[in-house]
Amino acid sequence: NKLAVVICGGGNGAHALAGIAGSKDDVEARVLTLFADEAERWTNTMKTNDFVVNFTENGSSLKAKPALVTKDPKVAGEGCHIIYLVVPAFGHRQYLEALKPYCRKGTIIAAMPGAPGFEFEVREILGKQLANDCILMSFESLPWACRITEYGKGVDVLGVKGFMKGSMHGEGGPTVLGNSPLEAVTYGQGSLGNRPTLICKGHLLGTTLIAINSYLHTTIMYGRWHDWDGKPLAEKPLFYNGLDEATAKMLEDVSQEIQNIAREIEKQKPGTDLSQVVSVRDWYLDTWPNHIPDKTSIYTILRTHKSYPGLVHPMEPSKDGNGFVPLFTQRYLTEDIPFGLTVTRGIAEIVGVPTPNIDKIILWAQGVMGKEYMVDGKMAGKDIGETRSPQRYGLKTVDDLLG
Ligand code: NAI
Repeated sequence: NKLAVVICGGGNGAHALAGIAGSKDDVEARVLTLFADEAERWTNTMKTNDFVVNFTENGSSLKAKPALVTKDPKVAGEGCHIIYLVVPAFGHRQYLEALKPYCRKGTIIAAMPGAPGFEFEVREILGKQLANDCILMSFESLPWACRITEYGKGVDVLGVKGFMKGSMHGEGGPTVLGNSPLEAVTYGQGSLGNRPTLICKGHLLGTTLIAINSYLHTTIMYGRWHDWDGKPLAEKPLFYNGLDEATAKMLEDVSQEIQNIAREIEKQKPGTDLSQVVSVRDWYLDTWPNHIPDKTSIYTILRTHKSYPGLVHPMEPSKDGNGFVPLFTQRYLTEDIPFGLTVTRGIAEIVGVPTPNIDKIILWAQGVMGKEYMVDGKMAGKDIGETRSPQRYGLKTVDDLLG
């Protein structure tokens, strides 16, 4: 009567969760990775090696192997209680499709991170009935900052969050043989240990809207590069600590537009809890209480944040060898636009809230990315199918958005 946990993915986060969940006596940790030869490599490495999770903050470590690593959805999925998606958002679809036959009433599907539009994707793939029978959890991030040390052998956990926020749809949890159903959050916590504390509050749409990277990264990219003259720079500019005042102001304006969307939905559908959608400043003060020396404004918050020194804009050497030019094929655009800001903009369109600043960012970004998401003020571009914008799923009303 163990809790059967499927960990989807084969990267840093999947390594950390495989070791941590695998160390719990009452958990059977199964890793499912569908990517390339990851399952084979990981399985072969574990045959002759320990699997070690190092917690670099306090120097402790734990040695524990997952029960299995496979690329066969049946082996991983049969009889499972919790499915963790621990891959970037573009990878969610293939795991949901592969594990759909093993989802049933009470199965928990937890995405870490969920990323905007997670709930739309689940509903489309599972169908409304099965999606409602399952318990969906969408978290803001991963519980740890982590890096694989050697593939299939171990991982360094560089930091463990104190708490991790998210939201949930559905009630109760799976019935694990011999136990009555517990709250889904209790099961989730059981496979992670004491830290981080999981906080699930509000509607899934709130986690979609507050997803910080979707507007933070994209606004900073826009602010730095929308009027770039095309000349190489001698040095890579600082990403967060190098923020200028105009971009800080734009960030506040974008954050206000996102709050306007949330407040309008709450007005149109009383009882909908989107209270997690707060300002970018409040998000920082809540999430990083001890990392911000100057809390005056979002400008000072990002310029003084203790975790950000040295983090630079994604750049590549210029062809003429005279410096660096910005890289627009990096996840700050390739993930945070299709699985981020276009989702927010698509929701705004349905709700009827104007988003002039978000529009500027999307129009600039789709230009440098060679994509077309937005045309004539509508999320109807030819590449909309590559996004998780609600228009991609044919959602038209606020009720459609709320599911
Ligand atoms: P990762 O980059 O280590 O893992 C990616 C995994 O996704 C790969 O191992 C593979 O299984 C799969 N994958 C990669 N390319 C694929 C493709 N083309 N097709 C199918 N599958 C593919 O990612 P990591 O570090 O485990 O992070 C997972 C998510 O958590 C990401 O969204 C990341 O931004 C986020 N995150 C990561 C943190 C960290 O410290 N590693 C911290 C906070 C958030």
